[in-house]
Amino acid sequence: MGLIEGLPLHTYGLAVVAALALWAVYVFCGRKRRPGEPPLIKSWIPFLGEALKFRNDSTGLLLSFKQKYGDNFTLYMTGKYITFLMNPLQFGSIIRSNKHLEFEFSDQAGSKAFDFPPTVNEKFPELNEHLHRMYQYLLGKPLDTLSDKMMKTLQDLLKERFSQATDWKMEKLHKFCFTLIFEASFRTLYGSDPDSCNAVDVIGDKFIKFDAKFPLLALKVPIAFLGSTKRIRKELIDFFYPKKMSKCLEVSEVVQNRMDLFEMYKQLGEYDKAAHHFAFMWASVANTIPATFWAMYYLLRHPEALEVVRDEIDHLLQSTGQKMGPGYSVCLTREQLDNLVYLESAVNESLRLCSSSLSVRSIKKDFMLKLEGNLEISLRKGDWIALFPATVHMDPEVYEDPKNYKFDRYVEDGKRRTSFYKQGRKLKYFLMPFGFGSNICPGRFFAVNEIKIFLFFLLSYFDVEIMEDKEVRSDKSRIGLGIKLPDSDVIFRYRVRS
Ligand code: HEM
Repeated sequence: MGLIEGLPLHTYGLAVVAALALWAVYVFCGRKRRPGEPPLIKSWIPFLGEALKFRNDSTGLLLSFKQKYGDNFTLYMTGKYITFLMNPLQFGSIIRSNKHLEFEFSDQAGSKAFDFPPTVNEKFPELNEHLHRMYQYLLGKPLDTLSDKMMKTLQDLLKERFSQATDWKMEKLHKFCFTLIFEASFRTLYGSDPDSCNAVDVIGDKFIKFDAKFPLLALKVPIAFLGSTKRIRKELIDFFYPKKMSKCLEVSEVVQNRMDLFEMYKQLGEYDKAAHHFAFMWASVANTIPATFWAMYYLLRHPEALEVVRDEIDHLLQSTGQKMGPGYSVCLTREQLDNLVYLESAVNESLRLCSSSLSVRSIKKDFMLKLEGNLEISLRKGDWIALFPATVHMDPEVYEDPKNYKFDRYVEDGKRRTSFYKQGRKLKYFLMPFGFGSNICPGRFFAVNEIKIFLFFLLSYFDVEIMEDKEVRSDKSRIGLGIKLPDSDVIFRYRVRS
């Protein structure tokens, strides 16, 4: 007989009464709204609060609260009170209040998910600041070097693997994007080990398995509850041991400088350093791969858009006297890539539709947040303040017909369009797939270049067509965590252009 069956009936009764009493205490004696604070939306569900509703339809939920409570309100979700700012005209106020706010995720949740010791820690003086300084190697000249390397690597891979496709070949689109972006990004950032096979062949499957569990790790679910994830994470981390990495040739400046920095911290073990490298590698591809998929998927579903983008690319190749194909090598300057306004607009439009980053900062002390128009709200220490840019991306006042894909939304009179309005005022923050403020994604320029380079080569090298007439939707597990994953793959076909 099991332990539970062995208990007398009145013990069950007592347990139920105790649970109900705890729930009643939670609901009736819980937090009260203080003067000056935004409306507080209480939930009947302990710990999870509104999390499940947020997961099911985050934009719909937040917009319904906005309608009822106004531009700012506080929700309870996953054990935290989160104040949302919904009006993009007010977003600048968070950036101006940076000194009262903290970006916990990359350090606390990041250290748990990737298993490195927290960097904000007196054991590692200034490590966090130094790591942030390393992000300069993702800008300016080093960014040009990265983009050039990405261009060369991607062309080599396309020629090596797909140049035989003179007849139509079928492939799953997400798998295709995953293989190419994973391998090309990896080689661009981490170089290649002459004695080893392609990174995607060695760790690609493990990466997919780890990535699938990442949303749970980000919610701080203990890894021990996630089956084989702990073993897989260790195998991925083992791949980045300093001894192994030192064999790699042509390592990028950003990764080399991170390696050198870690060597200066004797307190960091070899496993810790490897875990840091794995975390950075995850950040460099986990969003770029699905973002590339969506950019390509929308173009395939809209042949009229694909034609305009391809014409723009062909025109650039012609005007620079370059040719794509076996035996040729194409090289583009940053300026040339930037001038492809339709290509850039198509990438931005897919980012608008597929990004769902919840940008969260934790509040270090009680303070009054000054908003535009002499408004202010009182915020509490320990709570979070959040922006959910997807609500701006889907706002019909900002974007006409927001649910529809319009590849040229960000082009006006043949030039890049940056004027979008709310309440008659020009918006500074109208497209925010990369977060905001001092913790905005440091890899954003590289990511956009990668996607553009991928589309550039694919469209100039191949004829492409979608083979399945099905609408791919987004998987809900990644809501709030960056680019949504597709809920299924879709078959397309390609052949080398004659
Ligand atoms: C489409 C691709 C990408 C998207 C949508 C994306 C999005 C984001 C977002 C939303 C954040 C958090 C910012 C915040 O909360 O305000 C972030 C952080 C970060 N991203 Fe990206 N990212 C992408 C590609 C990349 C690439 C290619 C790299 C590196 C080469 C990278 C490196 C990082 C790092 C290191 C952080 C943590 C920053 C910190 O600690 O402050 N990301 N990214």
